[in-house]
Formats: sequence, structure tokens, C-alpha cells
Amino acid sequence: MIDLRSDTLTAPTAGMRQAMAHAEVGDDVYGEDPTALRLQERAADLLGKESALFVPTGTMANQLALLCHCERGNEVLVGEGNHCVLYESGAGAAWAQVQFTVVGSGGLFSADAMIAAIKPREYHFPQTRLCALENTHNRSGGRIFPQAEVERIASAAHAHQLAVHLDGARLWNAAVATGQSVRTLASPADSVSACFSKGLGAPVGSVLAGSRDFIARARRYRKMLGGGMRQVGVLCAAALYALDHHVDRLAEDHQNAKRLASGLANLPNVRCNPQAVETNILVFEPLKLDAPTFVAKATSLGVRMNPISATHIRAVTHLDITKSQIDEALSILARC
Ligand SMILES: Cc1ncc(COP(=O)(O)O)c(C=O)c1O
Repeated sequence: MIDLRSDTLTAPTAGMRQAMAHAEVGDDVYGEDPTALRLQERAADLLGKESALFVPTGTMANQLALLCHCERGNEVLVGEGNHCVLYESGAGAAWAQVQFTVVGSGGLFSADAMIAAIKPREYHFPQTRLCALENTHNRSGGRIFPQAEVERIASAAHAHQLAVHLDGARLWNAAVATGQSVRTLASPADSVSACFSKGLGAPVGSVLAGSRDFIARARRYRKMLGGGMRQVGVLCAAALYALDHHVDRLAEDHQNAKRLASGLANLPNVRCNPQAVETNILVFEPLKLDAPTFVAKATSLGVRMNPISATHIRAVTHLDITKSQIDEALSILARC
């Protein structure tokens, strides 16, 4: 089975398992896990923030950011298809109790569109408090938020007393694709989340980074939500291993996604634009079948993918997918 459903499907490599098995550990709720402390220091430094906190999931990182930046009833501006709105089980409404407003269409948006969405500081309106960006943008097919626009958005947001949170679940993909460091990409944002369990191939774990005070508050919320973990160094060791061994190789995933998209563009039964593929995610349209039927047929022949609507399918390349599997997938998809 060639599994292109998500980059979260990767299994830890032998080297990563070794690193996990030999991790030095302590009780992290007491702040005594040396591997967790080492990872948090390294992540803060890489992301260019004062402090960082290891959390089990990207979802928890985003939710902690909402809790720390916002009060109940505040408005959060997001792009279309934002992960917090679409894929976090309504957690933003349940925990931080914020209201989301979608800016623009297609996931990325301009500073002008964001400014136009900020509500007047008048008591009828929700208080717009946060602008949340996603880089890369999952739902739109792993698109990279242009950095110049991120900078314009952040300076306009700050001028209007809004904070900026960057969901960088796949920030390393954006960094490798653009040649910019994650520090540069995260620098306009007040807080940033990043995942080790996607393209980097760790089994579990994300990080939230921001100011020292912000992370101290996030640590308290993490405990409230049941995310205070004990000998968590075994997981942090996998994340450290991923940082050492799996960042540069993301370029291979991007090449494989391009290869898949270029192959699909030559098939008569699908529509796919290879120019739109910027990182490791691609979205395409079957022309003769609806998306769920196409996906069911592909699965029966040995390629798994996710339909993201009645008409569109998402395929994701990752650590466990080789170039020859991409070619094999293409010959299978030609028969769907
Ligand atoms: C952009 C984005 N943010 C956050 C998450 C949440 O990560 P997790 O599955 O670890 O909760 C994902 C997961 O795919 C994602 O794509």
C-alpha cells in the first residue's frame, strides 16, 4: 500500500527509536526532564523566541495560543480553511471561546484584507484580538505564505493592537522550500507552533514558542488541559533526532510531490496543476469520478489518499514514500 493520506503516517526510523530508547529522562511536570529542557531550549533558539514548550499535538499548541492571546468573546482573524476552524473539533469555541472570522479566500490573505476585517473598538463589535496565520497552509495544498505579506500583516496587526500567531505545523517545509530559516519565517509572529510529527517524522509532539511570560501562561494551560507529561524525554528525543536528521531531506518530499503532480497533469482522468505544488501536499481533481469514488478505487488498487471534498483529493508525500513509489502510484492512478 502506498499511503499518501498524510505526512503524519510516518513510523519512527531505527535511528530515532534508538535515540528514544536511550533518552535521559526525569519528571517534566517537576521541570526535571533534561531531554525535554534541551528540546525546548533548542526549539526556542531555532524559532527565535525567548521560550518554548513541548506539547503532545499541534492542536494543543494552537489552542494554548488562543487561550494565552485571547479572552472569551474575542475575534480571531484567520484564512479560509484554517486548521483551528476546520480540524480542531471546535476547540476554539469550547476552550478559549473565541469567534473566528475568515479573511479572503484560499487560505492566504493580504494585510489590506486583514485590516478591513478588524472591527471598530466600539462595544457592539467583538474585539478583534488575534490574527492567526498558517505556513504552510494545509487545506490549500501546502502553500507557502509569502514572507513579505506575513511581515506586512504582522506590522499592521501590531499597529491595531492585535497579536499574531503562526501555525507552523509544517514551517520546516516552508523553510526548506524557500531557503529561509524558520527563525526568519517566525520572526514577525508573537507566537509560533511547529510540529515534529508531520514531515519531520517523529511519532508525537509539537512545540509552542513565544515570550517567556507567554510560555509560562501556556505551561499552566497545558497542565489544565491534561498535557503535563512525566518522562516525556522519550518523545523529545525523537523530536531532537528529527531536527538533526530529517529537516534537509524534506526537499525530497517536495520533489516527490512535484513528480506526482507532473505525472498527474499528463493523465486524462484527473486535473492537476504542478505549478501550484510548493511543498509536500498536492490537491487534484478527478474528472470522471467524484473524489470519494476515485479514492475508493485507488485504495482498492494500492494507493491511499484523502478526499477533501466531493470534487478534490489531497495527496501528501513524506519520509516513508520513495520516488519509485510515486511512479508506481502514478501507474495505478492512471487506471482509476
Ligand atoms: C496546519 C496544521 N496545524 C495544526 C495541526 C494539528 O496537529 P496535530 O494533528 O498534531 O494536532 C495540523 C495537523 O495536520 C495541521 O495541518
